[in-house]
Order: sequence, then structure tokens, then C-alpha cells
Amino acid sequence: MPNQPIIESEGLTKVFTVKKKQVHAVTDLTFTAWPGELVAFLGPNGAGKSTSLRMLTTLLPPTSGSARVVGHDIRSDAAGVRARIGYVGQLTSGSFSQRVRDELLSQGAFYGMSRGASNRRADELIQSLGLGHFATRTVQQLSGGQKRRLDIALGLMHAPPLLFLDEPSTGLDPQSRANLWGHIQDLRSQHGTTVFLTTHYLEEADRYAERVMVMDKGRMIADDTAAALKATLAGDVLTFTFEDAARAARAVQVVTRLTTVEPTRSDATITLAAPDGDRLLPIVIRELDAAAAPVLRASGVPPTLDDVFLALTGRSLRESGAGQGEEDEPGEDEAHPAGEPRTPDDQHRAATVAGDIKTGAQR
Ligand SMILES: Nc1ncnc2c1ncn2[C@@H]1O[C@H](COP(=O)(O)OP(=O)(O)OP(=O)(O)O)[C@@H](O)[C@H]1O
Ligand SMILES: [Mg+2]
Repeated sequence: MPNQPIIESEGLTKVFTVKKKQVHAVTDLTFTAWPGELVAFLGPNGAGKSTSLRMLTTLLPPTSGSARVVGHDIRSDAAGVRARIGYVGQLTSGSFSQRVRDELLSQGAFYGMSRGASNRRADELIQSLGLGHFATRTVQQLSGGQKRRLDIALGLMHAPPLLFLDEPSTGLDPQSRANLWGHIQDLRSQHGTTVFLTTHYLEEADRYAERVMVMDKGRMIADDTAAALKATLAGDVLTFTFEDAARAARAVQVVTRLTTVEPTRSDATITLAAPDGDRLLPIVIRELDAAAAPVLRASGVPPTLDDVFLALTGRSLRESGAGQGEEDEPGEDEAHPAGEPRTPDDQHRAATVAGDIKTGAQR
């Protein structure tokens, strides 16, 4: 079904009740994703990313709204959805007593891969995710980053049409991150896999995703290509330094005449954000020369996705931990996927969640 959406989310909403207080984790999530897309889901801690993923993967029932995932309704046909997706949750999900390689092979067998194919794929992943030295260790003997690599290997064993990855690169060393992205790209080029992932690494989203969705306080506040978001919401940051503050002050007046943006001055330096900074930079330098405020140093820095978030919310994504209801305790009945530290209890629950998926797909 090449022209059918692979995800259609309509008003998906989740309200948790914690000690009689309501936490609006996700509000009215509505979007359509197409086969083959790589969507990066960004937002500060507590924004509602994991909750969205857990609803879309049928692990958590929505309070209201609906979604069709790979053509199946998340409410009425959870098994149909689970059989067609892969999911790597934010928390470690391996069962603790199995050895790494056996864990991968049981995942392969579970998804109906042949023994030969399972073996080949397991070896490939063990090698490229650097699990070789630990392949015969049990999961509980691995470090945090090694466990995370195993999680990802488990998610990549089979090639479902749609793969959800919740912060796959968090906790990985640079080499493992690069290898992870290599695998994600292979899956896409070889199988046309649609990948929907959350990340706090903005440069990863910028580089690899063709679509970036930004969530804040449970609501989706932007959805476009990284390039379009940066061009429309943020600008190149231009910085000019002068011999002294008086010249910088004069420069502010010149720049204000030239552009619609308001520069800010700090001592002998002025800064402004402009959408077409590389065009503006030489013009400004010429005009300032003519106005007897010669520029000593100039730089133009292209915007980042963090500048986009700042433009949208007035807060920086890098510093912003304050999402909706962050201060609240999680409910007693459900796992709380957000944030460190992770208790053994959390890990136990995560294992149960992974078990859910397996059970679902077996039906
Ligand atoms: N089981 C739960 N019970 C009560 N509140 C919850 C539960 N799970 C999540 N929340 C709350 O819902 C909100 C959204 O959490 P969610 O885990 O979706 O955020 P996130 O965007 O994934 O954050 P992070 O970047 O930290 O992983 C937060 O305020 C969180 O405290
Ligand atoms: Mg999360």
C-alpha cells in the first residue's frame, strides 16, 4: 500500500491521574506519517514523547482520540498493530538471565526468522554494535551502554515496516551511535522501513531526519523539515565586533535602518538573527564601513534546531527540563518512562512492556 499513510493519528490524548491531580501528558496529537519517512520527535523532558510512542505502539490506551498504525486501529486491533511494528523503549528491556546472543536469537525466532537468517543477523549486529566481547555474558552482567546497544540490536533483528525507537542513542558512545545510524540507514535503503524516533541529540535529528516534530507540554508545536523549521523560525546568528562600544552603538543604528531585526549590543559587539544571514553579512559590513563603524571581526552561524525551539517557546531545549507535570510523581499502576534514575523496579516493568509486544505479535 505505497500511498497509504503508515501512521494516522487523530486527536490522540493521554491524561494521567496522579494523586487525584491530572497530568495532561499528551493533548490532541494529530498527524499523518508516510511509508519510508524518518521522523524525529523532539521535546524537553516530560514533553510527552514516550507517552505518544507508547500509545501508538498500543502499550498504553489513549484517554481519547484514535490512531491507525500500519493500517490497523490501535484500540480495536492492537495485535494487528504489534505484529507489524518494532519498538525499542526508553528503558532496558532484555530479560536478565539470558546471554546476549541467545537473546537476539530468541527475538529472531519470535519474529519468524529462519535459524540461518537469525544467526547471520545476530552476528552482524553483535559485530557492528560492538557486543562481541559480551556476546556470551548474560544481560545483567552488561554496563548501561552495553545494555542499550543490546536493546537496539533486538529492535533491529527483524525488519518490520515501521520501527519506533525511544531515545535509541542516549547513553551510547560516539562509535556506537555512528553504527546505530548506519543500521537505521541500511534498514531504510534495503527495506524502506519507516522510522519514528525520539532523540535529545538535535544534530542527529537535523542530519538524518527528513521530518522533525517538536513537542512541548504535551502538544505538537511544529512539524516540518529541519531546513524549513530553521529557515522560517530561526535565523543565522550574525555577530560583529568593533573597536569600541561607541562604534558598536552607531552600528546598531545602521543595522536597524538596514533590516527589520533588532540587534542586541554587548559592549563592543552586536548580534542579530536574520533568516538570510549569508546575504546580509557583506551588505552590513559595507554599510558599516561607510558609516565609519568599521567591523573588526564578523561571523555568521547557521541556526540549530535548538534556536527553533527557542523561537517557538522562548526556552532553550538544551536547558529546558521543565515539561508538563514534571514535578509530579508517576501513577502507581503504570511504568513511568521519563528520566533518570532508573530503578530495578522500572526495569522490571520495562521487561513486562517488552513482553506485551511479544505476546501481542504472537496472537
Ligand atoms: N505512568 C505515568 N503516570 C503518571 N504520569 C506519567 C506517567 N508516564 C508519564 N507521565 C507524565 O507525563 C508527562 C509526559 O511524560 P513522557 O514520558 O511522555 O515525556 P517524554 O517527552 O518522553 O520525556 P523524556 O524526554 O524525559 O523521556 C510527564 O509529565 C510525565 O511525568
Ligand atoms: Mg521519554
